[in-house]
Amino acid sequence: MIKGKKIWLNGRIVDWEEVRVHIVSETFSYGYGVFEGIRCYKTKDGRAVFRLHEHMERLINSAKILFLNIPYSRDELIGAAHEAVKANNFEECYIRPYVYVSTYGESTWDFRKAAVDVAIAVWDWGTYIKEKAVSEGIRVKTSSYTRHHVNVNMTKSKANANYINFALARGEALRAGFDEALLLDVNGLVAEGPVENIFMVKRGEIITPPLTYILEGITRDSILTIASDQGIQCREESFTRDQLYTSEEVFFCGTAAEVTPVREIDYIQIGLGTPGPITKKLMNLFFDVVCGREERYMKWLFYV
Ligand SMILES: Cc1ncc(COP(=O)(O)O)c(C=O)c1O
Repeated sequence: MIKGKKIWLNGRIVDWEEVRVHIVSETFSYGYGVFEGIRCYKTKDGRAVFRLHEHMERLINSAKILFLNIPYSRDELIGAAHEAVKANNFEECYIRPYVYVSTYGESTWDFRKAAVDVAIAVWDWGTYIKEKAVSEGIRVKTSSYTRHHVNVNMTKSKANANYINFALARGEALRAGFDEALLLDVNGLVAEGPVENIFMVKRGEIITPPLTYILEGITRDSILTIASDQGIQCREESFTRDQLYTSEEVFFCGTAAEVTPVREIDYIQIGLGTPGPITKKLMNLFFDVVCGREERYMKWLFYV
């Protein structure tokens, strides 16, 4: 990670070091806040943020679920992200909006009237999982940690506190020598990765778990759209880990991980142990789309 120089904070561009959260604040104490993760890519016509509108909509919905009132409209948040990217001037970057409670006082745990801060940081993130993840595929471990039940933490809110679950799962996988974790839901069915949604390929069709237990991934939605536009059959259906073991191909997708082929799960080789043809096709198309090489999906790009 190469950190940015400036952060958009409550309507102003400030120095990176200037942003502070008191340890007594409710976001620090309880993880009561929400965030987003967005990527901005280099294209032949300049920088473009991928699906910025959808990310800001999800941020607003994440906050709504937690009773946090963001004092900005979706269009103002889009303008703020624009300012943050321009202020840092990376060729490509990762954009992280935060909605949080930085102050403290009489805590009621009713957040409807809490003073909510909004910050947008920008940094250069490069490849998330590892250098050769895209070319060689990664090794994944089914986690001993379960993806939250839908009534434990809210699964459709990208809430800070949810990420303890994901960090435990990812940390466990890394300590065991794998590249990433796979979380199952409370019924033992495949849910998602710590920051990724998952797809498998069976008899040429792509299958992904339904939205019930998972975050509504924007990359997942993009892959479903791109694949069906290519005439590839797509299905949203629950499945077990051993259905994954015997599938032809598996891949993860998400803003941070982009499209990442999976070559092994729990010591079992997937397909031929290399990125399969459908994964490669969708992965290449995805990178063409985000880099502005596919006319059809220009509507997903927001130029900065
Ligand atoms: C738990 C979880 N699932 C899936 C995703 C993928 O979502 P997206 O494609 O919108 O980045 C993310 C990343 O935000 C995530 O944190």
